[in-house]
Amino acid sequence: MGKDVIIACDFASAEKTYAFLDQFTTRKPFVKIGMELFYAEGPQIVREIKARGHKIFLDLKLHDIPNTLKKAMAVLSKLDVDICNLHAAGTRRMMEAAIEGLTRPDGTRPLLIAVTQLTSTDQESMEKDLLIHAPIDQVVMHYAQCARDAGLDGVVCSPLEAGKVHAACGETFLTVTPGVRFADGDVGDQKRVMTPTQAREIGSDYIVVGRPITAAPDPVAAYERCVKEFVG
Ligand code: C5P
Repeated sequence: MGKDVIIACDFASAEKTYAFLDQFTTRKPFVKIGMELFYAEGPQIVREIKARGHKIFLDLKLHDIPNTLKKAMAVLSKLDVDICNLHAAGTRRMMEAAIEGLTRPDGTRPLLIAVTQLTSTDQESMEKDLLIHAPIDQVVMHYAQCARDAGLDGVVCSPLEAGKVHAACGETFLTVTPGVRFADGDVGDQKRVMTPTQAREIGSDYIVVGRPITAAPDPVAAYERCVKEFVG
């Protein structure tokens, strides 16, 4: 898969999601379904959006014992999503079990990427709450390398970290980066942001964009602008 813009469909219901997606009549964007929508609507929302012709990043951030991950991932692979994810903190053994579960009998599988440290975790909370004392950048890179060694395809990271992740894990290791804003747009609650153009320059493989598209007066135009800046 090449570079693409993934729209974060952070809506509370299927109705709102379909009303949003109905606006895209020509090109069918890659969409991200998160916990809120998935827990509200269940797997049927995934089947329906897939049937409408969209690629899907199912952002459920799984984290459990290896055996449970293996079984849960087998279910997700049957849902025919394109990307799914887990927490690298579950350890290498958990990630390897996840890959095993995700791989279909014919050898194909959705892409699997890891969350390293959440961007809501900072050095202080990591030290105090998790008793991890290494510098957070080092922790993020270590988790990324561990994910690569387990056979995963990439990580979710800040666009500011994408270059470093590629340097540490190889150019083909995917970086999927939220925290994207237009140069003339609202930053909202995101702290460290980049424009789609900057994200392209720094080497992000996929950008995840929510409100700059979903809350735009013309979401289709905002999406097209994003694709033009990021993909070219
Ligand atoms: O609306 P906005 O563009 O900020 O949406 C970004 C999306 O990426 C949201 O779904 C958010 O949960 C997700 N995300 C993020 N930062 C992370 C991980 C995920 O913004 N570190």
